[in-house]
Amino acid sequence: MFEGASGYWFQERVGGLDYKCIHSVNARSVGGILELGGTILHTSRCLEFKRREGIKKAAKSLSSKHVDGLVVIGGNGSFKGALELAAFTDTMLVGVPASIDNDVFGTEETIGFDTAANTAVTEIDKIRDTAVSHERVFMIEVMGRERGFLASAVGLTVGAEIILVPEVKYRKMNIFEAIRENIAKGKKSGLIVAAEGIGDTRMLARQIQRNTKADVRLSIIGYAQRGGSPTARSRLLASLFAEKAVDVLLNEDDNKIVGLQNGRIESLDLQRSCETEKVLDPNLLNLAAALAT
Ligand code: F6P
Repeated sequence: MFEGASGYWFQERVGGLDYKCIHSVNARSVGGILELGGTILHTSRCLEFKRREGIKKAAKSLSSKHVDGLVVIGGNGSFKGALELAAFTDTMLVGVPASIDNDVFGTEETIGFDTAANTAVTEIDKIRDTAVSHERVFMIEVMGRERGFLASAVGLTVGAEIILVPEVKYRKMNIFEAIRENIAKGKKSGLIVAAEGIGDTRMLARQIQRNTKADVRLSIIGYAQRGGSPTARSRLLASLFAEKAVDVLLNEDDNKIVGLQNGRIESLDLQRSCETEKVLDPNLLNLAAALAT
């Protein structure tokens, strides 16, 4: 299906200079990369593309190379960039949601989210050993940008007593109170999973220590969440999304994203995805709280 149908850009360094190249690819070209993290395309955020001139330059490149369809693999930011590009090009754009933040409207899950969640869970399971042996409360910061999808999934699946996400305003007094209650109940250790988007976790951890009798430590998992070998679930989603993206390019007309909706891989209008905020399921947080009592 992919045979002869596609090409990709990538940047090559030759003699200290960067050259932009186009390589044709087929199914064989991507052999042996399924188990790798990162990207063989070497794509990343591009400052130039944040400006109108940069977007126009990209549109010009697409038309000069006669590109009929462009698959944009990324999260919310990439799709918003794609939408801006759409104003200057006739090239059809199809978004494939890939982000550890899982913040794309139109898909229940993004490629890489499960991998990042599993990385965080594996790390926290190790951190729990010190929490228990040293009778400490650990605040663990996970990524997710301004959203709490990763923190909620991770918090629930490690059995965190407290999950802090940007979508739900929290009162410090309530956190102190919850920890004091846990101590009174006989819990000698605890886990707080905090999304990076809530703000200064270092200061919060210090305040919790000062206002409770708990010995509190902060652990920031960081960039390990953005890499590593993808889980089977992330690989499956990537394969299904890729198939659908090609199908959309061949059989649909408008700019779209592909996504997982009610167990099916569907397509959705790119603009609608960009302009609609994905809602965090409050049930996850309620369930986590109920399970951790
Ligand atoms: O969007 C994915 C993500 O991993 C976020 O969770 C995180 O805030 C960000 O990228 C980190 O990337 P950068 O170092 O470029 O800010």
